[in-house]
Amino acid sequence: MSLSLAAAQPEVPAEADDGVWLECIECGATYAPFDEVRYTCDEDDGLLEVRYAELPTFDDFEGHGVWRYAAALPFEEGVTTQEGATPLYEVPRIEAGVGVEALRIKHEGMNPTGSFKDRGMTVGVAVAKELGVGRLACASTGNTSAALAAYGARGGMETLVLLPAGKVAAGKIAQASLHGARILEVDGNFDACLDIVQELAALGEVYLLNSLNPFRLEGQKTIGLEILEGFQHDYGAYPDRIVLPVGNAGNTSALYKAFRELVHSGALDRSEVPKLTGVQAEGAAPMVEAVENGAEEVRRWESVETRATAIRIGNPVNAPKALPGIRETGGTAIAVSDEEITDAQRDLAEEGIGVEPASAASLAGLRKLRANGVVGDDERVACLTTGHLLKDPDAAAAAGGDPEPVPADTDGVLEHLQE
Ligand code: F0G
Repeated sequence: MSLSLAAAQPEVPAEADDGVWLECIECGATYAPFDEVRYTCDEDDGLLEVRYAELPTFDDFEGHGVWRYAAALPFEEGVTTQEGATPLYEVPRIEAGVGVEALRIKHEGMNPTGSFKDRGMTVGVAVAKELGVGRLACASTGNTSAALAAYGARGGMETLVLLPAGKVAAGKIAQASLHGARILEVDGNFDACLDIVQELAALGEVYLLNSLNPFRLEGQKTIGLEILEGFQHDYGAYPDRIVLPVGNAGNTSALYKAFRELVHSGALDRSEVPKLTGVQAEGAAPMVEAVENGAEEVRRWESVETRATAIRIGNPVNAPKALPGIRETGGTAIAVSDEEITDAQRDLAEEGIGVEPASAASLAGLRKLRANGVVGDDERVACLTTGHLLKDPDAAAAAGGDPEPVPADTDGVLEHLQE
């Protein structure tokens, strides 16, 4: 199985370009990486992964941000707005409340456009330039569209985004709009948008930059690499577990790939790989269903609903990469309610950390897994928060307190404060 932590490093195929190639995770077919546009395998439609003749160890990383990890990426540099190097916040009160040995919040909302998507786009848009494609496109619950619009603009390329009408948070649409994307509001959910954009890509109309694009996941690997280095620096040990929100399961796949490559290069022992633990909203939890049932495949949910609109997804397209990651690392998956998500969003806000609802799912999931004993009190845990509070100002305002009207004079204000 090519996605096993124990797999041997493959032979370098003739199609490799400077030690980089694409490989089907199902049948092992190999392809040249930059000769022509391809998202899935010609033979069996399987997902592709980027493969390297040489895998790095920690000594090969230098510099700051995503491109510190160039030795683990297909290029030395990309189209950049200085993404990555996000904070790994301490949260002593939440840590004590949850009752684990250590808890840190990896806040991906601190990226340039306010979500982890920037890490994927700095690589993905560079590949698009290398391929010489015209229009870039994605389906999105919002954050991917914001990042694509910004990185496309930076790269001087045209961008098209398909969004589920009425289900995208205000901040994200504003970003896509100002950065100059052409925005199509589709009368359907995210999964329908992705079906359409995949068909447009197959017709050669657009270059697809959803996480089906294997190069995007390369950039997102760097989240995992930063967490490992951060924990090693602060605790002299890697985290036991990483808890993250799951939509299309791109991050779950990317983090697993990062760890797998370090195991294969000898930089990380198998026993040191953090347990990948995915969290979904109860109203959109097909991955959780598959993990709980021990299923090989994920069943598409046609109808999905959650306040955490970023992860309102019924067909996690990267499941074939992510399920082995959760299983091989000894992780799990859990669903949380919208109320639990909002409670966790408030708790993070009380520690000064502002996240959008989907992000707070990770903490909500950790709470539940600690309460039911799956997570032990001796664990060192990283929770990934994927997007910034300002992405979804309406959700933040609804979760917070209401403004109080007062007259425009000090006496009136004092009187009001004493009430
Ligand atoms: N958190 C946030 C804030 C997201 O925007 C997304 C995905 C996820 C988590 C899920 O990540 O897909 O890697 O499992 N947002 C995509 C978008 C779908 O269009 O912005 P995943």
